[in-house]
Amino acid sequence: MSETIALDDEIPARGIGDTAAFELVSSWVRARSAQLDRPDAFAHMDPAPSGVAARLAGLNAEFNQNLLHPDLSPFATEAEDLVVKWLSPFFGMNAGHMCAGSTIANLAALWCAREHGAKRVVASADAHVSIPKSAHILGLPCESVAVTETGRMDIGLLSDLKDAVLVLTAGTTGRGVIDDLGLAGSQRHHNDGPSWVHVDAAWAGPMLLTKYADRLSGTGHADSVSVSAHKWLFQPKDSAIILFKDPKAQETISFGSSYLAAPNVGVQGSRGASGVALLGTLLAWGHEGIAGRIEHLMALSEKLAARLAADPRAELKQVPETGVLNWRPRKASTEEILSRLGPVASRTNIAGEAWVRQVAANMYADLDAIWLRIDAGLAGRG
Ligand SMILES: Cc1ncc(COP(=O)(O)O)c(C=O)c1O
Repeated sequence: MSETIALDDEIPARGIGDTAAFELVSSWVRARSAQLDRPDAFAHMDPAPSGVAARLAGLNAEFNQNLLHPDLSPFATEAEDLVVKWLSPFFGMNAGHMCAGSTIANLAALWCAREHGAKRVVASADAHVSIPKSAHILGLPCESVAVTETGRMDIGLLSDLKDAVLVLTAGTTGRGVIDDLGLAGSQRHHNDGPSWVHVDAAWAGPMLLTKYADRLSGTGHADSVSVSAHKWLFQPKDSAIILFKDPKAQETISFGSSYLAAPNVGVQGSRGASGVALLGTLLAWGHEGIAGRIEHLMALSEKLAARLAADPRAELKQVPETGVLNWRPRKASTEEILSRLGPVASRTNIAGEAWVRQVAANMYADLDAIWLRIDAGLAGRG
């Protein structure tokens, strides 16, 4: 990545024209963005998007699609309905809508839970920051349940869940751990059970389309599920889905107005047609293509974990459950190795200690290329 570009403080009085501006700005973007598809990139939860999705996202922008007004985007409205209808059964859900990310999806879910009687939020200490943030916006207290050594919500610490929305995470951000999703079913029918169960499956949700689906069993007993399409469904930003068990549930988070032809569902007003790009990907790849890519990435993370576990220079935190790896060098500090690895790895804190975090999001990643970087880093080079 190149040095920072010095820009003038003000918008130029006379413009340079579309072509020149496009060339200039796109050259800056290209020069100063992480290359998510490089063979050794295994860092964050952001994949290089599917080619067809990236092209369709450009087309959406050309037509400036707006899902707030179905008459401006009749096809896009149908496309979103179709992808939600196709995907919902994998999650055991029956309705939903797309939104800009899982932060918004989680906010919509907790808002809906509040409209259905939830008065507090209960989530693990490793839940994504969007959970306490949403609770704060909604004016609900958020109770944080400590995690066990494995990173799962310590269910032994759960007591009275009456009037609570219980949030379970399927693939925590730092460790990729799946909470005990069996609670979604078992707690609901309890006398003092929660009034709502939400599964935050932003990261690992698409595993339900794969041979690893069993790891997420229980999800279908929840009232709502959030899934980031811009993570393991290989979509460009901003693309996520909030799904509901009860098809009527989202009516409680829908508003009408004199200028709206159809009720405005969820948190956002105007929003882009991310369903069009997702439809293109699902058509291009089919169910097998999506599942195959995720399964390939899971296998890569498992092989990388095996190499790290066998290397005396490294300490592996745990076998990856959802393609998220945590490890650290035995002799150097985590910060030192991270500075050698550069943008091909990320960082997380576990019980107050820094660990390297590597996430299997890049479908173009190559195990040997990743290992070459890690090996050089562990050998003090890089
Ligand atoms: C478990 C989990 N939930 C929610 C989110 C928020 O998703 P977004 O960044 O799409 O808003 C993330 C993001 O990494 C996540 O890992």
